[in-house]
Parts: sequence; structure tokens; C-alpha cells
Amino acid sequence: MSTIEQTVEVDPDKLMQLVFRSVDEVGATLNAALVVMGDKLGLYRALAGTGGLSPAELAERTGTAERYVREWLNAQAAGGIVTYDPDSGRYELPPEQAVALTDSESPAYLPGFFQIAVGSVLDSPRIVEAARSGHGVGWHEHVHDVHEGCERFFRPGYNANLISEWLPTLESVVEKLDQGARVADVGCGHGASTILMAQAFPNSTFVGCDYHDGSIQTARERAHKAGVADRVKFQTEPAAAYSGAGYDLVTMFDCLHDMGDPVGAARHVHGTLRPDGTWMIVEPNAGDRIEDNLNPVGRAYYAFSTLLCTPASLSQEVGLALGAQAGEARIRDVVQAGGFTRFRRVAETPFNLVFEARP
Ligand SMILES: C[S@@+](CC[C@H](N)C(=O)[O-])C[C@H]1O[C@@H](n2cnc3c(N)ncnc32)[C@H](O)[C@@H]1O
Repeated sequence: MSTIEQTVEVDPDKLMQLVFRSVDEVGATLNAALVVMGDKLGLYRALAGTGGLSPAELAERTGTAERYVREWLNAQAAGGIVTYDPDSGRYELPPEQAVALTDSESPAYLPGFFQIAVGSVLDSPRIVEAARSGHGVGWHEHVHDVHEGCERFFRPGYNANLISEWLPTLESVVEKLDQGARVADVGCGHGASTILMAQAFPNSTFVGCDYHDGSIQTARERAHKAGVADRVKFQTEPAAAYSGAGYDLVTMFDCLHDMGDPVGAARHVHGTLRPDGTWMIVEPNAGDRIEDNLNPVGRAYYAFSTLLCTPASLSQEVGLALGAQAGEARIRDVVQAGGFTRFRRVAETPFNLVFEARP
């Protein structure tokens, strides 16, 4: 067989559009590191609510070097994150940016999103190698910014939705939690979701498990700080073999698709639930077809999936690699293969799909 090479005409206008769009793309890529810098150095927090500061004033308030702060401020002003007043030489953080960049209780809180992105980029040379070999890279192998950024990215969404929106959509679950239920939060990471549920339902007991020991250590510290450690235990255990049985509710937040053997995990959930129990699965929002996901949210999630989720699954036994954009139909297949007879979508946000599975 021979390959016939075709001559294609290049439209110079389209080519230049791509080049100029790339200026924006590269600026955005670099800005992710600058947002993390501003968050870690306390620059946004020091600017918020001041009505404007000069680089020297901001440097003094944050104990940082004025020359770096001036350059950072100019980049932030060029990107529309702060405003610059040429008459006074001061830079201001508008109220909306102040909420999104400094208020960790706001559903719009953004620093974790940037932190997990920068952590993922830092680890990308390993993914380049993994793509050559086909091997995986485990969640536990990533830099701290991935683990901490993940928790800080997801927590605002759980704060806004979990207790008030998602749990009430599940049949009879809130009643059971109010009376005193046994709950397992599987793949719990730093335990943000586990602790939130424990605070809302003081009669219930909770077990959080994750195969990553470092995350479990952090989760234990968080539970102590939150004053719920007497009712919340954290255990380093994989999803397909966590301990305990007779659970009323098993939850999985943004982790089923990261697992090498999600069907094995589904089977184990089935075996550890009471016959009238419920499995709540929170997954990234995605349509079933690739073309449904070719939008800004899908772009970010396919990128995280390439750098984090797919390699995480490939690093484990079976290596099914569902990907972060698995979509409802593939999640239903996994759940049914695990022995569940009932499955329905109960809620949706721009970032998440929430499912209920019953034995
Ligand atoms: C994207 S993080 C989500 C963490 C947490 N649920 C949250 O919402 O912040 C995925 C988590 O799944 C965990 N994980 C991956 N594979 C696992 C497995 N086979 N068993 C248990 N946990 C697993 C990882 O260690 C990681 O903590």
C-alpha cells in the first residue's frame, strides 16, 4: 500500500487567529502559577477590601520583595484580575475577585482549581514517559499541590450542594442519617465530604477510606480539628476491600473513575451495604459522547483526565481507565456489573453528576 500525500492550502488568516489565540492560552497557562503564587504569599488576601495598594504597600503587608510584587501585579492587571489606577499607581482587587480568590467558604472559591492544575502540570513529565510506556502513575505519586488542590477545589462544591441539595434527592437517606446511620465514604481523600456529613448528622457514624495513606493522615487531623473524630474513623484501605459491613449509605466523591477496578469496587459496595442501603456516586459532569464534552468544562476535565485520572486507573489492577468524562451510560454499566439493580441520576451541577444506586 502506498500513501498519497495531499497538498492542502493553509488559510493565512486562520493561521494568524491560532497564533493570537495562543498568546491568550500561554498567558492563561502562566497565570495559573501566578494565582497559586498570590494565594501562597497571601497577596490576594492582603489586597482584598483595601480599596487599592501600591506594590510597596502590598510587599510590606505580606513580607515579600517589592520588585516581584510589582511584576506580579502588572501580570494580574493585564489579565483583568486586579485593576490598575495610573494616577495613584495603586492596584485594586474588585469585590468579585476578592470573593473568588480569598473566601474559602464561597462556592465560587477558586485557588484550589488553580493549585491542582499547577500540580498536574508540574508532574506532566512523568505522564509524557507513561504515555510512551503505557504504564500508570498512581494518585499517591503526585506532588502535594495535587492532593491539597483537589480538596480545596472540590470542597466549595460539597459545601454548597452535598447536605442541602444532593443527599435530600436520595430515597429515605436523610431520615436514616437523622436517626443514626452507618456511612462509608470511599476514596475520601482528605475527608472533606466525610467531615461535612458528620457535622450535619450528629447521630450517625462515618468511616472514610482511601488507598493513599498520606491523604488518610490529613483526613484524621481534619476530623480532630473539626471535633468529629469520635464519630469519624479514617482507614487506609482500597475501595475493593474496605472493612465493615451493614452500611446504610456508601458514598464516592469524584473517585470511581480514578480506580483501576471500578467494577470490583462496585461489587464490594454491594456486599457491604444493607439490603435497603444506598450508594451515592458523584462523578464529573459529562455527556456520553465525545462531542457532548467539547466545551470549556470538558476541556478542563479531559486535561485533568489525561494528567491525573487515566494514569491513576492504569496504575492499578485491571486498569479500566474510565476517564474523568466517563458519562452516565458507562457509570451505569459499571454499577450494574457490580450487581446493583436500580440506578438513576438524581442531581446535576455544571461540574458534577450525582447518581443513586440501590442493591
Ligand atoms: C480526585 S480524588 C477525590 C478525593 C475526595 N473524594 C474528594 O472529593 O476530595 C480521587 C481519590 O480516589 C482515591 N483512590 C483512587 N483509587 C482508589 C482505590 N482503588 N481505592 C480507594 N481510593 C482510591 C485517591 O487516592 C484519591 O484520594
